[in-house]
Amino acid sequence: MNLEVEFNHIIFDNERDTLILLDQRKLPREVWVEIKSIDDAVTAITSMVVRGAPAIGIVAAYSFYLGVKELMKENSDIVKVSSLVKDKLSRSRPTAVNLFNALSAAHSLIDPEKSVEENLTKLRDFADQLHKTDIEKNKKIASFGSELIPNNSRVLTHCNTGSLATGGIGTALGVIIEAFKRGKILKVWVDETRPRLQGTRLTAWELKKAKVPFEVIVDSAAGYLMANKLVDIVIVGADRVLADGQTANKIGTYSLAVLAKFHKIPFFVALPTSTFDLENNSIPVERRDKKEILQMEGIELAPRDTQAFNPAFDITPPGLISAFITDKGIIYPPYEKNIKHTITEKIKELVDN
Ligand code: MRU
Repeated sequence: MNLEVEFNHIIFDNERDTLILLDQRKLPREVWVEIKSIDDAVTAITSMVVRGAPAIGIVAAYSFYLGVKELMKENSDIVKVSSLVKDKLSRSRPTAVNLFNALSAAHSLIDPEKSVEENLTKLRDFADQLHKTDIEKNKKIASFGSELIPNNSRVLTHCNTGSLATGGIGTALGVIIEAFKRGKILKVWVDETRPRLQGTRLTAWELKKAKVPFEVIVDSAAGYLMANKLVDIVIVGADRVLADGQTANKIGTYSLAVLAKFHKIPFFVALPTSTFDLENNSIPVERRDKKEILQMEGIELAPRDTQAFNPAFDITPPGLISAFITDKGIIYPPYEKNIKHTITEKIKELVDN
């Protein structure tokens, strides 16, 4: 598929009918991995070869196609196979709702009355479509969001929300890069984002490519910077936002939001509408291996048998969020009313017209 993106880290090779992913754990070295089976796909998502909510959703959609194709070689019941593939993939990571939205949508396409080939074509087309749609959504988020950024802004961001986390130019980082192109950004403060260092390794890599001035800081420096009036705006992404505006994002986001409120700094969350979850009223927070905290590149940092608690995400309450930047526009409080209106009413308007 020919995608108009500056950097594509999710490649579906049509000739070989295989999925190839940039291994984000290895950056800045560019190493690519091939997804040959459903188990490879689950491992790639769990081990964070690919990460970031929208990117996980897109990879899950391609993996669904590959998984059904693989398992139908030894089975005849496509509905059963599809459920099995959905179950396997849904166990890869629990927080990013894009994963579950993509899997449910793919599963609902299965029609046992149709041939296996026809079902596979539908699943492949769906994955391509999801990828293309994410590119478009990213562009809209960047355009709406950059309007909000005042001139000469010093922006603080957390984790990685750029091309590497999505199918397109990114969410929060897409806004920042677009605002930079419009001459509005003085500098970006990049939280290193312990323990996986998505800021140091991924966001720094993307900002360097885009020639945006930035400096990496340790996560705990944010308060010092804010107190010294060195931050004008905070923009982060999201892994799941509930109907009332509760927002799951990379661990450390909640602390930033509290600090921003205290220092009267606007705190924005940028996300595609596919990251809203209007069905559930709580968010499962992933807990990852203690090794992520206690080791660095395989070297032990703590005394033997040290315990560590490693939640990968936290939940920011809506009262700390100045606005959501989405592909359908900016959503301001009251969130309970305005999120529902933006997601459901605007879709209805589009269908009716
Ligand atoms: O653990 P990760 O790297 O998958 O966490 C990613 C984040 O928290 C991002 O901020 C979020 O997915 C938004 S990506 C556009």
